[in-house]
Amino acid sequence: MSKIASFCNQKGGVGKTTSVINLASILGQYGKKVLVIDVDSQANATSGFGIDKPKTIESTTYQLIVDKRDPLELIRETGVSNVSLIASNFELSGAELELISQEKREFSLKEQLSKIENNYDYIFIDCPPSLGLMTINALVASRYIIIPLQCEYYALEGLGQLLHTYHLVKQKLNSELEIGGVILTMADFRTNLTQQVIEEVKSYFKEKVFKNIIPRTVKLSEAPSFGKPAVIYDPHNKGSEGYRSVGIELLERFEGIIINRKNEANGINERGHEEGLKEQAHENDKAEESGEVAQYAEPEKIENIGNSDRGDVLVKDERKEIINTEELNKGGKVYEQNADVIKEEIQQ
Ligand SMILES: Nc1ncnc2c1ncn2[C@@H]1O[C@H](COP(=O)(O)OP(=O)(O)OP(=O)(O)O)[C@@H](O)[C@H]1O
Ligand SMILES: [Mg+2]
Repeated sequence: MSKIASFCNQKGGVGKTTSVINLASILGQYGKKVLVIDVDSQANATSGFGIDKPKTIESTTYQLIVDKRDPLELIRETGVSNVSLIASNFELSGAELELISQEKREFSLKEQLSKIENNYDYIFIDCPPSLGLMTINALVASRYIIIPLQCEYYALEGLGQLLHTYHLVKQKLNSELEIGGVILTMADFRTNLTQQVIEEVKSYFKEKVFKNIIPRTVKLSEAPSFGKPAVIYDPHNKGSEGYRSVGIELLERFEGIIINRKNEANGINERGHEEGLKEQAHENDKAEESGEVAQYAEPEKIENIGNSDRGDVLVKDERKEIINTEELNKGGKVYEQNADVIKEEIQQ
């Protein structure tokens, strides 16, 4: 069964769509099958994958939610390995009105997704900047709500309303819903304000906050105009690296899988597992203290469980599997080739 997550914040421009398309692409590169559902009439997730916004409601989320058309007929490929999409267009803005007269109107998306959820590892729903019926449909259909928060002065403003909606949906419509994580976005580490916002959000959401924070970068903002997720368009810029790290955290959080990145693998190969991981953990602490994007590693109780023929190292601690792949940082084709290997390793 797939893990369904709504990326939700009624505030506009906080990084919902950017988070959805980049994290979906990262998980796709790690061999996960992901479906993105664009539930916003602005259709930014649709164009962010380079798909022209459909001119009519034909094969869009409108037909999924309002007309209850077979979801299998609506799914498109995105060009990103393992990532599919149900597209949106501006006419979705009329859908809320149309739905009002329907019975069980809050459950429409949930019913539709139940027909396909076994086909995907993850379904990510890109919500509009409102708490209307589309967002309620998304939350009712989801196991997780993921909240992107922009690192700015008013980051927490309006959050009360969002959490109130979350609690109401959980109480009355979907008891399984839980907060899957908070992603801090558009951080400018040079400013004290960013540091203050990070502290404030962490003191409020505690471990729900993803450790890796997405910096503000030009590449992240220009990637949509090239019709590509930034992690594909420019995998090495700090914003893409940030999303890769959050994607890795997400895999750990939702599935207990840890994927270590190239430099960690190198450290481990050269100096032995335990030492390499400890060192990386130390580097993480330092990076976190200085506010840089941290990478993730677990130092405790590590056991070597074998090497893959490609020279990757698999290690396992008591709870989790750790997979080191030497070429993970290289992007593009390498990821696609790696995806199968990683998939096999994950399944073992
Ligand atoms: N880390 C970042 N650095 C620089 N620009 C960013 C970053 N994240 C997002 N952006 C840009 O900020 C704008 C808003 O981001 P995005 O569209 O992801 O937000 P959103 O919450 O989905 O907005 P909306 O509420 O309108 O749907 C976009 O132009 C996007 O390219
Ligand atoms: Mg958006």
